[in-house]
Parts: sequence; C-alpha cells; structure tokens
Amino acid sequence: MASANDAGYVAQRMPRVLVLDPARPDPAGIDEAVRALREGKIVAFPTETVYGLGARASDARAIDRVFLAKGRPAYHPLIAHVQGEREARAMAASWPPMASLLAGAFWPGPLTVVVDRASNVPAALAGGGPSVAIRAPAHPVAMALLRALGEAVAAPSANRYQGLSPTTAAHVTKELGDAVDLVLDGGPCDAGIESTVVDVRGPAARVLRPGALALAELRRILPQLDAGLPGVAAQDEARASPGMDARHYAPRARLQIAETREAAYAAAGAWQVRGPVGLVVYGAAGGAAPDAPPGVLLRVLPDDPASYARRFYDTLHALDDAGVSCIVVQGVPTGPTGEAWWAIADRLRRAAFQTEGRPPLP
Ligand code: TXA
Ligand code: MG
Repeated sequence: MASANDAGYVAQRMPRVLVLDPARPDPAGIDEAVRALREGKIVAFPTETVYGLGARASDARAIDRVFLAKGRPAYHPLIAHVQGEREARAMAASWPPMASLLAGAFWPGPLTVVVDRASNVPAALAGGGPSVAIRAPAHPVAMALLRALGEAVAAPSANRYQGLSPTTAAHVTKELGDAVDLVLDGGPCDAGIESTVVDVRGPAARVLRPGALALAELRRILPQLDAGLPGVAAQDEARASPGMDARHYAPRARLQIAETREAAYAAAGAWQVRGPVGLVVYGAAGGAAPDAPPGVLLRVLPDDPASYARRFYDTLHALDDAGVSCIVVQGVPTGPTGEAWWAIADRLRRAAFQTEGRPPLP
C-alpha cells in the first residue's frame, strides 16, 4: 500500500474516488459502491457527521478489513448504519421504548443508539461485546447507498486509529490511501463532528459520547438523560467502555489546550522557538483576533459550537498538513452552562491526551 522513497517520504497509492452530487447522487456511482460492498470491498462514504469506512454488516471478513485499514484494535465496536428503525430492530435482541422514541425524533440524523445485539449481527462488528451501536445517517449519499444495498453497513469514521476524523474525501485518501477500495466524494460534511452515542439499555438513557445531536435536543425527548461530560479515562478504565480510549481524535502534532485565549497566544509564542506552531482560537464572526507571533499559524473559528464543530477537524487536518509540531487550542466551555460545547471539549481532551513515550509539555 505504501512505499518509502530514498528521502524516506512515504507515498500512498490513491484509491478510486467517485465524485457525487451530494444532493442528487448519480445512481451509477451508488451502484458501483453497492457492487464493491457485495464483493467484500470496503467503501468510504459521506455522512452528515464525518466520513465513514463501510463494509457490509453481515460480512465478517470485510469487517476485518475495516479494522485492518484503520489499525484499530478488534475490541473497538463499529456503528451499524441502517435506513431506519425497522432495519435497526432486526439487529437488536431487544428494542426498548426509549429507542423508538429517539429513532422517531431524530432519525435519520446524527444519533447512535446502543442496544442489546441480536445473534445474527457478527460479533466482530460489535467488538465481541453483547451490545451493538446503530444509527440511520441523514446524508443523501449514505441514504442512497443503504437503500440500494438493502442491508446494513458497518462503518467507523474513515481515519486511522486514534487519528483525526475525516470531514472531506481528501482527508480520507490522505489517511488511508488505497487501504480503502473506493471513496464516494460527497463534499464536506455538514456537522463536522461525530454522532451523539446514547446507551438505552438501562433504566435511564446515558450519553456515551457527546456529538452532533445537541444534548438539549435529546433532553426534549428524554428529560432524565444522564449526560455528564465524560472525563478522559485511564487506558484500562477506557477499555471497559468500548471505543472510548483516552487518546483519540488526535492530530499528528501534539495538541495543547490553553485555558484562555491569552494563555493560548503565550503558549504558542513559547513553542514557536522550536519550529512552526498552530494556534486555534475562537471569536465572533468578523471580530478581530490579535496577530499571531511570527512562526505561528493562526486559525480563528466561530464562537457558536455548531459552526465551530463544522470546521474543527478540517482546521486540525490543515495544520497537520502544514507540518506544525504543536497545536495550541483555546479551551472551550466544559461547565454546565457550556453543554453545547461538550462534544468539542471531549474531542479536544482526548486529542490532547499524551500517550506514553511522548515528552512532557513544558
Ligand atoms: O458520526 C458517527 O458516528 C460516525 C459516522 C461514520 O457514522 N461514525 C463514528 O464511528 O464515529 P466510530 O467507530 O469512529 O465511533 C464509534 C463510537 C465510539 O465512540 C464507540 O465507543 C461507540 O461508538 N460504540 C460503538 N459501538 C458501541 C457499543 N456496542 N457500545 C458502546 N459504545 C459503542
Ligand atoms: Mg472514530
């Protein structure tokens, strides 16, 4: 898949990329993707949240290839993508009333429900566990693909394990090269951050991952929602909650969160003596941000959480591509009044989590 030349530069071969009109995808392109899936191939496709790396949910060998392409450990469960509640029920051993309420209110849309797994769902899809995560995506390309295939598609985000999620087809090809067989390019994702994951197996619904569906929206339907901002767990603890490793969603550059905008400028200034640095702050549209010191690549994101989320991963991808060694990010609200920011706060914390062997920050 990849080969290194004399300079040590690793070149990846490109997968086949089909550009589709996101509003009215060409049926011939969808048919090609369906044929590929039926042949056991893996296909990246756009959803309204981030790009997914899809395999037929009933094809355990294709699912293995998804794990291999991502470099993801086998205990990390994937999300099954379906057309709607009827298909979801067929994958669940039990379908609680709460699941129906949520599916009725938010599907198709950026909500994933975790339910008991039916015996016909391959264990590999669920990371070997007793439950399965299911969602009905709202993107027209994803919907056309699921309709034409007529069965569920298992798909994690289409990135390497622990890396940044992709919000464009270019992010997918950059990360995965021809480890993916076919990429459906439906343009940039609208939400830009992953779905909200809710466990509905217990007496009260529990948010496992804050995401693109706002917690306030969920509360409208389930006032008793348990939605604490998950802390970054130690690796062992994280393993008990599948797929929630402490380090996740991370750029190649090390990422540091600074409490305030001023602290972020100061940290970026301190880092840049060692090489180019990225600085991500947020502010009102059109509002001025102070100039960054030389050697600091400044990105100013909008100060409303949904618009920030739309540009979040793309901004980190771009800074990574620019070759910065460190990205300093102005922290976002994490308190009870900043609930709309929790999905971003969660991704930032995990991206900043230092893996063993990385030198400590100054
Ligand atoms: O928006 C999204 O959810 C995207 C698009 C492609 O649909 N998919 C995505 O998949 O983000 P992935 O695999 O990168 O993340 C799956 C999340 C993880 O946080 C994992 O912990 C959780 O879903 N998850 C999956 N199956 C689960 C299960 N059986 N129990 C608990 N959590 C589960
Ligand atoms: Mg992911």
